[in-house]
Amino acid sequence: MRRFKTTVVGAGNVGSTLAQRLVEKELTDVVLIDRVADRGEGKTLDLLQSSPILGFDTKIIGAHDYGPTADSDIVVITAGFPRKPGMSRDDLLKMNMEVVQEVTENIVKHSPDAIIIVVTNPLDVMCHVAWKASGFPKNRIIGMAGILDTARFRTFIAMELNVSVDNIHAFVLGGHGDSMVPVPRYSTVAGIPIPELMTQDRIDALVERTRNGGAEIVGLLKTGSAYYAPSAATVEMIEAIMVDKKKILPCSALCEGEYGINGTFIGVPCKLGTNGIEEIVDVRLSNPEGDALHRSADLVKEQTALIDKFMAENKKNGKKSAPAEG
Ligand code: APR
Repeated sequence: MRRFKTTVVGAGNVGSTLAQRLVEKELTDVVLIDRVADRGEGKTLDLLQSSPILGFDTKIIGAHDYGPTADSDIVVITAGFPRKPGMSRDDLLKMNMEVVQEVTENIVKHSPDAIIIVVTNPLDVMCHVAWKASGFPKNRIIGMAGILDTARFRTFIAMELNVSVDNIHAFVLGGHGDSMVPVPRYSTVAGIPIPELMTQDRIDALVERTRNGGAEIVGLLKTGSAYYAPSAATVEMIEAIMVDKKKILPCSALCEGEYGINGTFIGVPCKLGTNGIEEIVDVRLSNPEGDALHRSADLVKEQTALIDKFMAENKKNGKKSAPAEG
């Protein structure tokens, strides 16, 4: 039987932790790529040497060229740059656009049938870049954000009520960032909507902490951002696709009319199976919820327009490669 193959691009914190989770679970063979020579090779050699101790037989290869990635079923893009002091949001947008564009062009050459999962931030617009650069149908471009955001919300609800995280389902829509839209009345503990279990003040506090979930961790770590939860969220998506689970998970997807949003990648509930996004689940929202989602989509739309402008300028100037690290 052919083994499932996943390429992870970017052997930094998220990429290497994701590779570790995948091989330790014996879910899929993994190729770990980084533009920095030997980074992917070093991380995979270390992982490989943990296999006799942990007892996994999944194959793992490190590389800095795309040859070994050929015919991957799934490619996860974690490659990118973090925001550094003095760098504007637009500078970061442009740098990561060039990274994701270059990576995607390589993926298309070597794995034309792959499903691409984007993790690089700013997430929703990076999905747009991968979609544009690949020419893939929209069901094969999926952004990882909502599972992470809902996991944060679920964690805070569990802590607040002192109950198992297993009992909690949470519902978060919208762009990955300050404008995300947690929906408390669809967020439940053992089937009970959270407004039945806590005051509006406490819900507002948990929503606020969820919105700042990424920044809170950056503030604590000082250098670098979250990677344990982002990598775990990506594993859940890969598993749903691999086993054709038809699991409904919040992901960034290209909306074409759903929720009244057109032509924008944004966080919505998606059914994941062998074909990637098999359906966007379009649920009825109240007016304030719908308004918040549209405001979030408008912000993503503005950034998407900027990306289209950058991509057009680079095309005109014949610029191809991603910027050098530093
Ligand atoms: N091709 C391959 N790898 C690249 C490229 C490229 N063009 N450009 C950068 N990289 C690699 C870097 O060399 C680095 O090893 O991407 C890796 C990024 O790793 P980290 O800096 O550790 O970042 P990480 O914490 O893993 O986050 C990656 O995920 O959650 C998001 O916001 C986060 O956008 C960021 C991404």
